[in-house]
Amino acid sequence: MTHLLSALDAQNNVWDILEEAKEFKQGNVSKKPLKNKSLAMVFEKASTRTRMSFEVGMYQLGGQPLYLSASDLQLGRGEIIEDTARAMSRYVDGVMIRAREHDDVLQFARYSDVPVINGLTNLEHPCQAFTDIFTINEWKNTFDLQMTYMGDGNNVCNSLLLATAMVGMDFTVACPSNYEPDPIILKEAHKVARKTGSVLKITSDVQEAVKGTDVIYTDVWVSMGDESEESQRLRDLRDYQVNKEILEMAHPDAIILHCLPAIRDQEITEEVLNGPQSAVWDQAENRLHVQKAIMSWLLG
Ligand code: CP
Ligand code: NVA
Repeated sequence: MTHLLSALDAQNNVWDILEEAKEFKQGNVSKKPLKNKSLAMVFEKASTRTRMSFEVGMYQLGGQPLYLSASDLQLGRGEIIEDTARAMSRYVDGVMIRAREHDDVLQFARYSDVPVINGLTNLEHPCQAFTDIFTINEWKNTFDLQMTYMGDGNNVCNSLLLATAMVGMDFTVACPSNYEPDPIILKEAHKVARKTGSVLKITSDVQEAVKGTDVIYTDVWVSMGDESEESQRLRDLRDYQVNKEILEMAHPDAIILHCLPAIRDQEITEEVLNGPQSAVWDQAENRLHVQKAIMSWLLG
């Protein structure tokens, strides 16, 4: 059974996903490859883009999406993951889960007879990372680039480390100590990077990380689940804001990415988010096209 739990699970499929997403975006796919198929979408956390792109995407592919809030399921009253996974597999052709704990998604996949897609956990956000590299290729038409991630080495950063390594793009994380990406994922990403020639770096030096870079990426400083650390995080991360001064250090044609939601004047300023170098709204749209490619791959 093939699942997408980590970005690494798509290592052999990444180019096909990018190609297929492009076909979907260009409107070249008229057939409904998921006709009569159903996707359960389990959410333990809030979502705008992930929910909408999976839901609309599934409909456009001819299938049926089911939105399931974890708190409304028996899961929320203590039914164990194993039983939920076994029962759900009897109704649907795939399950997308947005969960607090990555291990819960791994556990679900262990007992699921249908493909499981990680729609964000505390550790990874693979569907986002594939959308991000798709968007970079759309704007730049190459992966022979330097990308800099600024701020919290969180779930999005972890999946980006893997996805950029897979396509051979250089990736630098600028973050304070204690906010580095997951060490196990970093090790895996280095293994992939050795094969593709991509250079991965972690530094706390913003200037070094941003100078001449082609892509600047940031995400919220307080992820879902980190709310109790808010004031500490805002203090620790304040030198990592993506603003005009940062953008001026980058390559003149550099683009800005943000997975959204964005908190203005924390990790990014309004003028950069909505400035001429921002690709964030295309990036948001591309969740739909990439999700369709991922669902076609796993459920088709
Ligand atoms: N980027 C992203 O996953 O957005 P949502 O939290 O709105 O789904
Ligand atoms: N890192 C953020 C991403 C939201 C899409 C979070 O986990 O809340």
